[in-house]
Amino acid sequence: MVAGDVFMVGRFSKRVISLKPSPTLSMAEKANRLRREGKNIIKLDIGEPDFDTPQYIKDACIDALKSGYTHYTSSRGLLELREAIAEYYLKYFKVEVDAESEIIVTPGSKFAIYSVLQSIVDSGDEVVVLTPAWPTYISCITLFGGKPVEVPYYLNNSDEESIKSAISSRTKALMINSPNNPTGNVLSRDYFKLILDLAEDYDFYVISDEIYRLLVYDDFSPFTILSLVDSLDRVVVIDGFSKAYAMTGWRLGFTIASKQLINLLVRIQQNSVTCPAAFVQIAGVKALKGDQGPVERMVKEYDARRKFLVDALNSIKGVKCPRPGGAFYVFPDFSALNMNSMELAEMLLLKAGVCTVPGSVFGAGGEFHLRISYASSIENLREGVERIRTFIENL
Ligand SMILES: Cc1ncc(COP(=O)(O)O)c(C=O)c1O
Repeated sequence: MVAGDVFMVGRFSKRVISLKPSPTLSMAEKANRLRREGKNIIKLDIGEPDFDTPQYIKDACIDALKSGYTHYTSSRGLLELREAIAEYYLKYFKVEVDAESEIIVTPGSKFAIYSVLQSIVDSGDEVVVLTPAWPTYISCITLFGGKPVEVPYYLNNSDEESIKSAISSRTKALMINSPNNPTGNVLSRDYFKLILDLAEDYDFYVISDEIYRLLVYDDFSPFTILSLVDSLDRVVVIDGFSKAYAMTGWRLGFTIASKQLINLLVRIQQNSVTCPAAFVQIAGVKALKGDQGPVERMVKEYDARRKFLVDALNSIKGVKCPRPGGAFYVFPDFSALNMNSMELAEMLLLKAGVCTVPGSVFGAGGEFHLRISYASSIENLREGVERIRTFIENL
């Protein structure tokens, strides 16, 4: 059985049945099927680093296993890791966070997002989602009975009015993600300030997903919304180790929020996953405290690929590709081809052997774009772009 099958009415939860399978993972599954059939597929849909986890982090994990970090930890996470997170924010952003009460460590930041939304959203509540956005936000809001209100934002840098018109008396929160998946756009401090002012005026939470925080290029430097606020009353930060430290498979993330909200998140964690693996948490301590050289080298390599990919895509007739400042995605506009993004992505996969993600899955504003990931070698990017070029020239 696969999701999408017909489920017997009354037997399963309506809310869970209405959950859509992850659209980004669906493209990957189609590509994998073609590969198993022997087709040569260039995978540019990938949402995870192609680098291996730095050795010093793996060594820390092995040492932790050997020295007995093999049991449950507190559902808040090991204090050692929460302290390392607090020290990190103090050192790099001059922001004070209380390790005891304002941080919870989670098995991946996806679970952090899931439990934060579960703690905030009641049936009928609205959450404003700036789009194009990672589809998980909308799935979680809907799963918890809320109503996502999409505001196309990252591509046209919409103004205050467009956000204001999406706010109602039921607005509980707004979700922001910079650097953004899928566009790679990095929002300026002024945009964050504007959103914080609105949150104050209309009394809602700003949930800032900062998972790509360290992957920034050109004149951008790592930023957190925490550097703009004095209290955690209206702000929640989601972050994790997957992207910056190439640790997707380790499942380690965290939330920084008010003591009250963290206490609710702890209850969810106590009643669900308990905690991330103890030895993985120790590896997280090392990731934050150890040599940041490997992260810098990965960022440098992403940057070189980004420049290559943007120039190469812009050299194809009918393709417009802005140069984004962060993450590892570009989001080119293919509207000149008069084909919707799902059709285009499917044709590219089947006829050109290039796997991308259709922009429409990222919500309002995403149609007529494709998300192309450069978490892939320059050789793959070169081959992928040449296949796209040949496909478009032969249309
Ligand atoms: C915007 C965004 N947030 C969160 C995540 C989840 O990361 P993880 O659960 O691996 O920490 C992803 C992963 O693709 C993402 O793109």
